[in-house]
Amino acid sequence: MPHQVLSQVLSPHHLAQTRQPLERATTLPAEAFTSQSVYEGEIERIFLREWLCAGRIDQIPDAGDYFTLDLLGDKLVVVRGTDEQIRVLSRVCRHRAAEVVRGAGNTRSFRCPYHAWTYHLDGSLAGAPYMDGAAGFDRKTCRLPELRSELWEGWIFVNFDPDATPLGPRLTPLSRTLANYRMSEMIAVETATFDSPFNWKVLVDNFMEAYHHIAIHHDTFEPIHPAALSHSPDNEGPYALLFMPPTQTPVPGADNPLGNLPRHGSLAEDEIGTLVAAAVFPFHLFAPSGDSLAWYQILPQTFDRFTLRIFSCFPRAALENAEFEDSVRMLQEFTKVVHHQDIQACETTWAGLNSRSFTQGRLSRLEKPIWQFNQWWLERMS
Ligand code: FES
Ligand SMILES: [Fe+2]
Repeated sequence: MPHQVLSQVLSPHHLAQTRQPLERATTLPAEAFTSQSVYEGEIERIFLREWLCAGRIDQIPDAGDYFTLDLLGDKLVVVRGTDEQIRVLSRVCRHRAAEVVRGAGNTRSFRCPYHAWTYHLDGSLAGAPYMDGAAGFDRKTCRLPELRSELWEGWIFVNFDPDATPLGPRLTPLSRTLANYRMSEMIAVETATFDSPFNWKVLVDNFMEAYHHIAIHHDTFEPIHPAALSHSPDNEGPYALLFMPPTQTPVPGADNPLGNLPRHGSLAEDEIGTLVAAAVFPFHLFAPSGDSLAWYQILPQTFDRFTLRIFSCFPRAALENAEFEDSVRMLQEFTKVVHHQDIQACETTWAGLNSRSFTQGRLSRLEKPIWQFNQWWLERMS
């Protein structure tokens, strides 16, 4: 079924509208968001083949540090080994499938709580009691499977496809553009977790345009990063970028909560006040704003639900600054207010996408990243 998904579920005519140049393009058809079989196609063609973000290196700074992650129904553990290597392993015991570890922490090995099989931090088997009578049981080849992983700008990416093309080289232009933000040196602080009852692409679309600042964020973002100034470059890689420069006419009393933290010192003048939103497709979302970085981790659950974890990341120096806590509180409050406005937008969009009367809509010139994402999505799904 999945290999024929697109033409069976989505009308070729509607897909052709999405493929038009931006000036004439529409959104993806509603069924691309609301169909269970399209979602199954996404699992096969996108989620199991593309690079997905598992976490940050600063979550496991020391040898033996680990955190667990449930990704697309798979049970993983991300661990820094005694050799300092970061690995992403299955945390499903090779004996009878119990979880060998839960939560996060620091350990010298993973000892399965069920029958005490023990694994080294590289996944190899260290011990399996009373298995001496098991004919042909090979301790050397019995190990927790390791998934492909790659580090990019402080994030740990994982890929279920052992033959996937490396991610880093495809993101070189993005790294270059954002070099001054020194993202790889930042420390992530988790801000909030949301159970999000709508398709993951609704949020990606919402995250990647500032057009909606004029309405849903008229009292939060529009006074500091007006929609009209937002712009996006053309690019070749699997990502989209949105620049949101600061307003030329500051509104009295509209304090910018993004502007109060200690600075990197590496930012160019025009970067200091500009909010940037970036998406590494399919769904790694982050937004550097001068001295801090918002990071949205999407964990898809079903076609109509995902878990969203929002993190704020800061330069290490900021964490040591006396005014840091107040600034962070302000920033997190602001993030919450903004995200609640976005939740409202996403929920009403989701209801509309599920209504009988809506098929697809025209895009504004301010929605280029959505167009870029749609072209990428269509290419993968076709
Ligand atoms: S299931 Fe892990 S040791 Fe038996
Ligand atoms: Fe928004």
